[in-house]
Amino acid sequence: MEKSLKERVLSGDRVTGRLHIGHYVGSLKHRVELQSQYETLVMLADVQALTTHFDRPELIRGHLFDVALDYLAAGIDPEKSFIFVQSMVPEIAELTVFYSMFVTVNALRHNPTVKAESKGSGLDEMYYGFLGYPVSQAADITFCKATIIPVGEDQLPHLELTRKIVRRFGELYRPVLVEPRAVVGDVPRLAGLDGHGKMSKSQGNAIALDSSREELESRIRKAVTDPARVRKDDPGHPDICPIYSYHEAFRPEGAAEIRESCTKGTIGCSGCKKLVAAAIDGLLEPMRERRAFYEQRPERVKEILLAGTDRARELGKETMLEVREAMGLDYFFR
Ligand code: TRP
Repeated sequence: MEKSLKERVLSGDRVTGRLHIGHYVGSLKHRVELQSQYETLVMLADVQALTTHFDRPELIRGHLFDVALDYLAAGIDPEKSFIFVQSMVPEIAELTVFYSMFVTVNALRHNPTVKAESKGSGLDEMYYGFLGYPVSQAADITFCKATIIPVGEDQLPHLELTRKIVRRFGELYRPVLVEPRAVVGDVPRLAGLDGHGKMSKSQGNAIALDSSREELESRIRKAVTDPARVRKDDPGHPDICPIYSYHEAFRPEGAAEIRESCTKGTIGCSGCKKLVAAAIDGLLEPMRERRAFYEQRPERVKEILLAGTDRARELGKETMLEVREAMGLDYFFR
């Protein structure tokens, strides 16, 4: 299929740990689908990872290759997409500085995602880089003029800010940037295995994309379900059960039946869990094969990242020429 020349897809993930099935249904699945139609860039957000891990850069370094493998395993196809490293694209940092001049501290302080994350971040104080990371995220999106941004719903405030920055830049200087739109996953926030909030590796309630079948089954077996179901025939409440939400996400065709048999108490939790584990295993199995392929070819992975970074820089340079010209900062070239 001829790719659309007009639009570009960009999305990324902080490199603070392996990706999990919540990332998959939240945005990765969309990226895999969109890559056949649009030029797709997938960013290893190592700079954004520094906002919470500036004192542990070795952890980011340690995860970079693993997250790249997660992408390739999940079906990001290096023939169709570019995978690149955020810190290797200096244009993103340059844009961040320019944008930061006209974004108010108040707008950042009221960003609901920044607020929620600062509670869970373990940071004792609010740091400049952390408060400002949505500005840097606007630079991630605009440096390559991406318009389609597959993300989880928690990222919507950042998308809104990006759109504001693009408009403000246009008013202040010249409209050379483009407004992006979010594509939110079918399951905007997958529940955690412990039933407390969303799936997140830092909460230890996630199923990693590189789980073996045994790990997956054991994690599901230990997952929390509706506490009202002590005996097999106790009527359950699917809407408060994380396992039920996985049925909706990973075997939607069977979810209505599960809802009914759970509510009536005609299926036990362990049988219900087995069904969902099998569905998730069906998703992970082809990923295990692709992962094994690339794991044995680290040189190939490195080439993929370097090629992706080259493409990102090429786009970044084009945009920076326009940005500098729009701002009148192209001093000695006119
Ligand atoms: N903040 C995103 C997350 O936590 C990661 C990210 C960084 C991102 N830059 C981006 C997502 C640009 C989309 C576009 O998941």
